[in-house]
Amino acid sequence: VSWYYLFYPRPAFVIGSGEPPEANFMAASWVTPVSTEPPTLGVAVDKESCTHKLIEKYGKFTASVVENVDLLWYVGSRSCEEENKLEKVKWFKGKTGAPIPEEAVGWAEAEVLSKVELGDVVFYIGKVVEWKARRGFGKWGWDLKEVKVPLQKAGRLFLLPPCKEVWARKA
Ligand SMILES: Cc1cc2nc3c(=O)[nH]c(=O)nc-3n(C[C@H](O)[C@H](O)[C@H](O)COP(=O)(O)O)c2cc1C
Repeated sequence: VSWYYLFYPRPAFVIGSGEPPEANFMAASWVTPVSTEPPTLGVAVDKESCTHKLIEKYGKFTASVVENVDLLWYVGSRSCEEENKLEKVKWFKGKTGAPIPEEAVGWAEAEVLSKVELGDVVFYIGKVVEWKARRGFGKWGWDLKEVKVPLQKAGRLFLLPPCKEVWARKA
């Protein structure tokens, strides 16, 4: 087991890149908001992936919340070199032109502002230019009774809400 599993479970997302017909989906759990002003989102992308090529070429990506762990595993275990994943997943074009899965319950669209190259990975930081939650999203974020935001535990194993909600005592 690797050191980075200390930082799991982590929410996993579908990353859309490129512009149809040259577009792709992959799964990513190494995703984090970076700054509130400007609003930025970071994602660590393997240099060997098709997603890396497409983000380099088009300079944008989408990150979507889907409830379907089979979809996450599918886009996260197949390469665009084996098959066109956009033929197997229903999608629509976001405002930036990058693809978003039809079944997404929420998503952000980002334009790359900065990147950090580190070994086998590029960490892209994109400015969030558009975002939306379709349902079950309020003052306290996702209502996990309504939206099953999947957390990746390790590999193909995921955790699904409902989880136990606990309020911290006021300090
Ligand atoms: C739940 C899950 C999370 C993943 N997280 C990442 C990640 O954060 N960064 C990454 O580069 N690959 C991640 N992967 C692996 C890629 O999704 C996988 O290599 C994919 O096949 C790349 O597709 P592509 O070559 O078509 O772009 C993850 C896979 C899964 C299933």
